[in-house]
Amino acid sequence: MSHLYQRHFLRLLDFTPAEINGLLALASTLKTDKKNGEEIQHLKGKNIALIFEKDSTRTRCSFEVAAYDQGANVTYLGPSGSQIGHKESMKDTARVLGRMYDGIQYRGHGQALVESLAEHAGVPVWNGLTNEFHPTQLLADLLTMQEHLPEKAFSQMTFAYVGDARNNMGNSMLEAAALVGLDLRLVAPKGCWPDEKLVQECRTAAEKTGGKITLTEDIAAGVKGADFIYTDVWVSMGEPKEVWAERIALLRSYQVNTAMLELTGNPQVKFLHCLPAFHDDQTTLGQQMAQQYDLHGGMEVTDEVFESAHSVVFDQAENRLHTIKAVMVATLAKL
Ligand code: CP
Ligand code: NVA
Repeated sequence: MSHLYQRHFLRLLDFTPAEINGLLALASTLKTDKKNGEEIQHLKGKNIALIFEKDSTRTRCSFEVAAYDQGANVTYLGPSGSQIGHKESMKDTARVLGRMYDGIQYRGHGQALVESLAEHAGVPVWNGLTNEFHPTQLLADLLTMQEHLPEKAFSQMTFAYVGDARNNMGNSMLEAAALVGLDLRLVAPKGCWPDEKLVQECRTAAEKTGGKITLTEDIAAGVKGADFIYTDVWVSMGEPKEVWAERIALLRSYQVNTAMLELTGNPQVKFLHCLPAFHDDQTTLGQQMAQQYDLHGGMEVTDEVFESAHSVVFDQAENRLHTIKAVMVATLAKL
């Protein structure tokens, strides 16, 4: 893993298939060691900055707990309270934090910002979600898939991502599929398909791994034979509230529900979601949207599917910790 030492983690296509598989193997080892009480601390005395320009539960907690487990210290810089963005550019922020910290996590808006941070920091920078990509999420997803389907290699898995495929998750799915060789179907209305340039880039990368990338509006064809069905929120953080009506109209028929799981023809199909999910009326925004658009019992996924035995969403959430730890250890420790 020494070849990842001092590298940034900005998007998956920056890595080779062997590097991604190496990170997954490291995450799996770190997970086992932690559970057995045998974790070795590789990051003693390191200082980590966590910049969050958008909200987070899983990503923040994973970086913090992973750092503590490994003996590192963290500073959390939230959406307000620092000079970042308001009075100080990312380039200047990078040059300041790079003098004090050994690694920097960034969650925020454009990918260009995290790239600017990486260019000027002089220490590893990790992308904890931008408008374009969410690469650490995909590591957790891939680990969860391996754990739930150990009898199949990635190249034998069929994966349907349903819903908004034009967002950070859709884009990252494409990159992941290309790198590990999945049979990926993006099942979405054309208006929610990813940028054609990225699709081509990923299809080219997939030629080396045997990965297959299909974009389709046809739900029945898209989910047929799927081992996994994945969805994400229909409106992402940072998008204006005006897009809700349009997005719901486009995606309503792409809700993951029991009928869709049945269309896979696979009684063992697993349901994945990066979370947070609108699956019930228990949140303030969920309640508001459910009432306004008559979507009780779930939006992108029904409560029935979310709470069913098919759902592995909390295994995914836990795996954020182990995979983020692997990224920090691989890039900051000379293993
Ligand atoms: N999946 C994910 O990134 O969750 P948070 O927004 O809570 O970090
Ligand atoms: N697409 C979602 C992912 C959240 C983890 C968002 O950006 O809000």
